[in-house]
Amino acid sequence: GKIIFIEHDNTEHAVNFEAGITLMQVAVDNAIPGIDGDCGGECACGTCHMIIPDEWFDKTGAISETEEQMLSMTPERSQTSRLGCQVEATENMDGMTVRLPEFQM
Ligand code: FES
Repeated sequence: GKIIFIEHDNTEHAVNFEAGITLMQVAVDNAIPGIDGDCGGECACGTCHMIIPDEWFDKTGAISETEEQMLSMTPERSQTSRLGCQVEATENMDGMTVRLPEFQM
């Protein structure tokens, strides 16, 4: 399937993904600007902040307490913010768009 990452300046990156890895890993594997994944997916750095459009948000699953804590410190947090390392890519995300914040931590 494909996920479309959209930078803050609206530059789009449509990339192929395999189900079962995290959205952070999909972004890092494809060198998406601004997604660093500094902590390696431990939910400890906040450099994988992504904003999910409303219509896709319920596909991204539940937010853990740890993720909630990290998100609360994230600049530009929105109602549908997620940490990409805490969201597993699934087949039903084919065609999903993900917006990137202007600044990462
Ligand atoms: Fe560090 Fe997601 S990669 S919080």
